[in-house]
Amino acid sequence: MDLVTVGATALIMLIAGYDTTGQTLAYVGYILATHPEIQDKLCEEVDEACEASGGNMPGYAAIQEMEYLDMLIHETLRRYTAIGVLMRVCTEDYALPGYPNVKIKKDHDLHVPVCGIHMDPRLPTRAAIALHQDPIILDVVLQVLSGS
Ligand code: HEM
Repeated sequence: MDLVTVGATALIMLIAGYDTTGQTLAYVGYILATHPEIQDKLCEEVDEACEASGGNMPGYAAIQEMEYLDMLIHETLRRYTAIGVLMRVCTEDYALPGYPNVKIKKDHDLHVPVCGIHMDPRLPTRAAIALHQDPIILDVVLQVLSGS
């Protein structure tokens, strides 16, 4: 790998990694601040993880086991999508399987509406399903989803 590629890759890592992560964490904080019930439930999970780690900060493996934290981050990413559109350029003529009238021509731009998919009530995410199955949190999630 030459020096220009190393520099370009480092810059992409910085740009791609800074804003996305910062924005997502800011919205996690916003949800926790405006929904104390969610905050209480997350605190419970954090306390349990600390206890299981002998009173120390939970390590990487223990954090991977934290289901409620995982759901909260997924739901935050769904509701406050960091990258709302994905863009691609078609490299060869393509017929969408199951949609014979939709033909994508070579060199056409494709925009995948990530926000639209995230907000489509016909396509609930795993996190939203999991949260909705919890009767205590149902009202809170509905409030977040409705933007109140
Ligand atoms: C909440 C945090 C993040 C979100 C939501 C996020 C989202 C995404 C998405 C949607 C893409 C695909 C873009 C596309 O294919 O058009 C992507 C690609 C990428 N992300 Fe992230 N990202 C996050 C954090 C990070 C971090 C922390 C880094 C690095 C330190 C990073 C580095 C990259 C790189 C290098 C790519 C390009 C990969 C490639 O095309 O081969 N991202 N990210």
